[in-house]
Amino acid sequence: MSVGTMSSESERFRHAMVDQFVADQAAEGCSPRPEVEAAMRAVPRELFTPGLPLEQAYENEAVLKKMRGDEAISSVSAPFLIGRMLGQAADALDGLDGRHVLEIGSGGYNASLLRELVGPSGLVTTVDIDPEVTDRAVSCLAAAGYDDVTVVCADAEHPIAPSRSFDLIIVTVGAWDIPPAWPDQLTDGGVLVLPLRTFGMTRSWALRRREGRLVSVSQRLCGFVSMQGAGAREVRYADIADGVHLRLDEGQHVDAAAVAGLLTTPREQVWAGVSLPPRTDLSDLDLWLATRPRREAEQFVVLAAQEEAVTAGVVTPSWRFAVPATLEASTLAYRSALRWTDRRFDLGACAHGTGAAAAAGRMVEHMRAWVDAGCPPPVLHVLPAHTPDGDVPEGAVLDKRHSRLVLTFTPEEKGTT
Ligand SMILES: C[S@@+](CC[C@H](N)C(=O)[O-])C[C@H]1O[C@@H](n2cnc3c(N)ncnc32)[C@H](O)[C@@H]1O
Repeated sequence: MSVGTMSSESERFRHAMVDQFVADQAAEGCSPRPEVEAAMRAVPRELFTPGLPLEQAYENEAVLKKMRGDEAISSVSAPFLIGRMLGQAADALDGLDGRHVLEIGSGGYNASLLRELVGPSGLVTTVDIDPEVTDRAVSCLAAAGYDDVTVVCADAEHPIAPSRSFDLIIVTVGAWDIPPAWPDQLTDGGVLVLPLRTFGMTRSWALRRREGRLVSVSQRLCGFVSMQGAGAREVRYADIADGVHLRLDEGQHVDAAAVAGLLTTPREQVWAGVSLPPRTDLSDLDLWLATRPRREAEQFVVLAAQEEAVTAGVVTPSWRFAVPATLEASTLAYRSALRWTDRRFDLGACAHGTGAAAAAGRMVEHMRAWVDAGCPPPVLHVLPAHTPDGDVPEGAVLDKRHSRLVLTFTPEEKGTT
């Protein structure tokens, strides 16, 4: 597993990239696991981004994208995303040494990091649906000295090697559902780490298998290119103003022109009147808001905006890439920009249309309830699609094609995970 002798210039870029990753983690109040940091310092990323200058190979973002129209369908994933997901995996399994791992979505870079992490007694298999990607992965892995990774070209919706099971399946492409092949290929107690879209929002979940079910042990905010093949579900948007979009989930329909009209009516702002410290994880709040009971005609959607639309004041979301929003025939409400006082912040909602103040008021009531509950993180349960209602834990149920997803905000009791 030698990576050969790399130039000091490569090492300088690599250490700078990892130093930045460590600093970013520290700013979020965590630190990477030492073995993940060591693997990132060991693997020369430029060998997986052939043709790119070192500066670009070591940018802390996805590179070498393959596009279909405007949409990226393949990339060498951003190091900070990979580092965080490997950390989730290693935490959930208490280390990866000696583990058998399946990576879904290839390229070679993450497979090399995994190869470093599992050590000589572990095994890494990586699968990609695109033969161009697997060909590139094979040659890049060989160039980097990791020719003991098994590379398979297939749609990972289906089992890769039906007789084999893995301690870890790590998915590096955005999923909408969890096909049976993934839990079926896990050992009991094994872990699935995957970017999964629920209510239009993607989180990297680490899910542990127990008796045919999966239960989450951690989750992080993330973004990935979308799954292709039999499990593909495109992300749909309704454009409601220049640079303002509503992200819709499967089966949702929105009259974009009617909502566009709403944005031209006066904005009502309501504050929750809470005082939170800077590191509060608002991605947890966003899933809480997504799962609150709704009025009959109310839909949950996700609002996203281009920078120009925010600068122009067309919308004032807390985070322009995705904030929770609710929509009724004549009212749009969303989570608005934070109000800071002395390094603490308040949460707010704003709304347009008939009954705007009441709609924003309902949203901030839910925000207060989350704060009063101690800002709990979500827990995700994944059950087979045929599970009867009586066997489903209490929580918000999302029925997908292959699975019933249940989001709760109650930690699993000790010993059950
Ligand atoms: C973000 S890239 C993977 C990055 C890679 N893990 C790395 O080390 O940088 C996502 C990959 O998932 C692949 N993919 C998409 N749908 C798939 C499917 N159904 N089965 C297997 N691979 C798939 C794409 O072809 C793409 O190459």
